Amino acid sequence: MPFSFPYEIISEGEAVVAVPKLSAFKKAPWEYAPSKAPVFYNPAMRLNRDIAIVAVQAFQRIAGREISAAEPLAGCGVRGIRFALEVEGIRHVYMNDLNPRAYEIAKYNVKMNRLSDVVTLSREDANLFMSRYAAPRKRFDCIDIDPFGSPTPFLDSAIRALRDGGLLALTATDMASLCGVHPKAALRKYGGLPIRAEYCHEIAVRLLIGSLVMTAAKHNIGVKVFFSHKSGHYARVYAMLLHGARRADESIEKMGYILHCFNCLHRETSQGFTCTERKCRFCGAAVAISGPLWLGRLADDDFCERMKREVLRIEKLDRRVREIISTVHRESDGPATYFVIDKICDKIGLPSPPIRRVMKNLTEKNFKVWSTHFDPNGIRTDAPAKIVIESVKLSAQPPF
Ligand SMILES: C[S@@+](CC[C@H](N)C(=O)[O-])C[C@H]1O[C@@H](n2cnc3c(N)ncnc32)[C@H](O)[C@@H]1O
Ligand SMILES: [Zn+2]
Repeated sequence: MPFSFPYEIISEGEAVVAVPKLSAFKKAPWEYAPSKAPVFYNPAMRLNRDIAIVAVQAFQRIAGREISAAEPLAGCGVRGIRFALEVEGIRHVYMNDLNPRAYEIAKYNVKMNRLSDVVTLSREDANLFMSRYAAPRKRFDCIDIDPFGSPTPFLDSAIRALRDGGLLALTATDMASLCGVHPKAALRKYGGLPIRAEYCHEIAVRLLIGSLVMTAAKHNIGVKVFFSHKSGHYARVYAMLLHGARRADESIEKMGYILHCFNCLHRETSQGFTCTERKCRFCGAAVAISGPLWLGRLADDDFCERMKREVLRIEKLDRRVREIISTVHRESDGPATYFVIDKICDKIGLPSPPIRRVMKNLTEKNFKVWSTHFDPNGIRTDAPAKIVIESVKLSAQPPF
């Protein structure tokens, strides 16, 4: 037996890898098996990895040459191995993990997939690992930070180890902090305050991007958001980093606050770092303020088009990938924040009408509407809260 713990061989995408046998580590039904195993592997993150393959491929097409990729927190190595096997034009993949058992299993997996010439493995702290590649000609084209919890402790090193025009991918799994359950933790880690509004998942993504923008700005680097999404228990962002103080200033200009009225559901954005508005302009109630956070677009048109093309070509992807990319792309044209029909109905004491009916009602009033991938029951719209509530009320009434 090659490992001192129970394992199994699974396939994911084009990779065949050894992973800890999760059922052997789950003692009680409520336990989260991936965190009990000696090496991390979470089958539920396959969707995250599938989208990563598509995004890295889209980026490689933009680069138009062979690229290198790094995974500083690699676990059993499935993500990096999939980059090497599935992304066309990958020159080399660098995988690293501090855990000696992760290193062992990743080494075994690299060999099993015949990638010893394409993958370099190391076993050290992720920040130390990335710092070794921070010199100008040593930097990576692409870095994927996929940690436990927040990626912010690794941001500075990742920014330094990424070449000008490189792709940085970040996962954040500390959704309780980002969604406002632990606002102080979000402020500490991301430099912005969340609120527990119905669109808190969008706030999570915007806080994550905001923190990237402000960290990159210290290095005179700007951020072009390519794609972002929230799926399962994590937020994810893909961004191109562009060197130059002007680029950094342009990114900072897209930072600001979201002001939310819990009384009438009005919300608005306020660009910049001063936010003096304290009362709702519609009902006069005190507004809750979230930020500073990213107010810019959450996805880039061209990048989404490229991703959609790659989805058609890459085999064995989760069938949700295409739908997520399309929905994120469409809704990126809409304003910040969305309304959730159930939440409005709870507030006004009516049964929830079908979302299509509310959307139809709003479009009949000449407002724009978008579905949102953040919530199947959510509507992004340019209509004010008062009109949305009116449309929900109308749609909740039985048709005569
Ligand atoms: C969420 S798992 C990575 C999962 C992997 N990226 C995947 O797609 O399957 C996080 C990994 O980070 C490693 N890790 C935690 N802190 C680290 C550090 N400071 N430096 C390097 N690795 C670290 C853990 O051992 C763990 O394997
Ligand atoms: Zn109000």
